[in-house]
Amino acid sequence: MRLRVHRHDLVDSTNERAFAALANGTAGHGDVHVARAQSAGRGRLGRAWESAPGEGLYLSLVLRPGPPALSAVALTMAAGLGVLEAARSLGLTGARLDWPNDVVVGGRKLAGILVESRGVTPEDPTYVVGVGLNVAQERFSAGLTAERAVTSLALEGVEVSLDAAEERVLLTLAERLDGLDRATDELAERYLDETGLRRARVRVTVGDDRHEGTLVRLDLARGLALDVDGSDPRWWPLEHVRALERR
Ligand code: BTN
Repeated sequence: MRLRVHRHDLVDSTNERAFAALANGTAGHGDVHVARAQSAGRGRLGRAWESAPGEGLYLSLVLRPGPPALSAVALTMAAGLGVLEAARSLGLTGARLDWPNDVVVGGRKLAGILVESRGVTPEDPTYVVGVGLNVAQERFSAGLTAERAVTSLALEGVEVSLDAAEERVLLTLAERLDGLDRATDELAERYLDETGLRRARVRVTVGDDRHEGTLVRLDLARGLALDVDGSDPRWWPLEHVRALERR
């Protein structure tokens, strides 16, 4: 994919900026919106994403790959793997993925990904892949650290510029997303390796129900299978899984 980078000083959210360009017909496959700061950076599940100027990487990539529509789940996993690979190639060790695509180091969150689509049509499916990567932060707000443990590349001993981080993230993200329609089995296997979920004891939340068991299969088409009680595994479609925690 050929990337075209659009730079902004301050935006509400780079995902919103990408959607605005899609809405006015100016957004193409491979467009990237990068901002120095965001005033209303968004995370998953309605959370905010702290976006102080010059400290983190805040970017959104527009995908308009043409038909057929991509699997949202495959997209989410591939984007997570792409950001994880970028962090490693910048010198980070000890990082892994947490469901569905947080990059974490020793349980501390380093990067988050928000994949969104609005009004997808079969002829022109469009997606926005938003990436927030903590690069230079030495500290975070008390509100954020009360919610969960967080970290940055700098805090993990990796001193890199925002430009270097951006270059690496765009490279690995584009690589992973380009091959998406072909390599789904490899993607699921790689995802299991990087999350450490293979045969892990987990609790999944589906709707309002929670189920505990051993994760025995991950199949992008069928979903995930848990051995709940030693009899036949139970399957849930991945798009129905609201949360997955290790037990
Ligand atoms: C999460 O882990 O909750 C996802 C966080 C995604 C944050 C990025 S920052 C760039 C892009 N623009 C946004 O408003 N959100 C994403």
